[in-house]
Amino acid sequence: MKITIIGTGYVGLVTGACLAELGNDVFCLDLDVQKVALLNSGGIPIHEPGLEEVVARNRAAGRMTFSTDVEAAAAHGVMQFIAVGTPPDEDGSADLQYVLAAARGIGKYMTDFKVIVDKSTVPVGTAEKVRAAIQGELDARGVAATFSVASNPEFLKEGAAVEDFMRPDRIVIGVDATPDGERARELLKSLYAPFNRNHERTYWMDVRSAEFTKYAANAMLATRISFMNELANLADKVGVDIEAVRHGIGSDPRIGHSFLYAGCGYGGSCFPKDVQALERTARGHGQELLILRAVEAVNDQQKQVLGRKVVARFGEDLTGRHFAVWGLAFKPNTDDMREASARVLLADLLGRGATVAVYDPVAMAEARRVLQLDLTPEQLAKVRFADSPKDALQDADALVIVTEWKAFRSPDFEQVKARLKQAVVFDGRNLFEPAVMAENGIEYHGIGRSILT
Ligand code: UGA
Repeated sequence: MKITIIGTGYVGLVTGACLAELGNDVFCLDLDVQKVALLNSGGIPIHEPGLEEVVARNRAAGRMTFSTDVEAAAAHGVMQFIAVGTPPDEDGSADLQYVLAAARGIGKYMTDFKVIVDKSTVPVGTAEKVRAAIQGELDARGVAATFSVASNPEFLKEGAAVEDFMRPDRIVIGVDATPDGERARELLKSLYAPFNRNHERTYWMDVRSAEFTKYAANAMLATRISFMNELANLADKVGVDIEAVRHGIGSDPRIGHSFLYAGCGYGGSCFPKDVQALERTARGHGQELLILRAVEAVNDQQKQVLGRKVVARFGEDLTGRHFAVWGLAFKPNTDDMREASARVLLADLLGRGATVAVYDPVAMAEARRVLQLDLTPEQLAKVRFADSPKDALQDADALVIVTEWKAFRSPDFEQVKARLKQAVVFDGRNLFEPAVMAENGIEYHGIGRSILT
């Protein structure tokens, strides 16, 4: 099938590459000339495991092309996926300018029936705006072509996006109950047929419900995390191990084990933005989402939890103190530092006069970029970008772990102790067992793990 993907960000590039892998003829449009040039020369603008190989294979097979040509993009696919960014506006609502510009681009050049598929995370009612934008362009040109707008939100996790796309646990699709909507349903059904062979994974619904489902999923996951973080903070006070509690409640199938890990807060481009956007939608309809307001407030606090623990141990003034920081990305397997907890921690430690040595397996270049925005030149001068986890440890008063990279999970504790000035570890992701750390002679501060002994 001929497919056009508008936007070659995370969602667009992964969707395009995976649909090409299924044998479709995929045309990827992006207005960023440099990005398109990079993709056409075999480069990949993001770090995503497995993606480079899939793109290379499908480019070589002629199933994937990258271009800035809006007219050619509109002509190519009977299905036009909109996968552009929806960054938050100043007020937290999703900024639809890129989505609507993509829609106008389609309307400006389309000549025959198209299915427009919204992949971007967009608020309820966006499909109607997309429809109006396209119709406006068609009317202006006096073209009578028909089209249908469907919603097909993505549920990809950064760092596992290719895997998530190729093995979806569900595919959510909203289509209109009209003859054109029916045509859209048939086309989408055959596009996704390879995923539904063994059992049906597609949930068909109306367009608005599909748009809402995406926000509901992310808001629910963010809620679980903030809930556990709040309980972890209490666990620290009352001498309870939140990890034991996690197992104890997760074994109830009504609760389940996933996304119950307490830590130093959630980050990334999705949860913070989507929670805010849903709250904003509600407010626009005179409703306050009290639970989500609390989810956000708890998360803002939780990003400060490591700084608070360091202060409790070393005092408010950290002048003359030096810390090793492992992990900068908002989670493992990505170089994404959007809303990363490490940014809050570093601003806190440096603001209190400390110096730091930081290490991340892939986010070092991105860290150099974003820390320039977050920190003053004087503070930035106090950051050493280390070559390895081991190197970062040298002469630090403590190690602070912010991201749960696999590479950090089994360190040589003797080496850690030998390099640190003091054997103190603050673990923002609960990678280690307090008892094992005690056996190794390391003073350990996890999140919600202060069992009374
Ligand atoms: C999230 C959702 O998991 C995807 O299903 C969704 O498609 C995506 O947003 C999106 O809307 O595009 P992502 O932001 O890539 O994916 O990352 P997650 O793996 O969900 O992690 C988000 C944050 O929550 C990370 O900072 C992680 O460290 C934190 N987290 C996750 C916890 O603190 N505890 C947990 O138990 C799980």
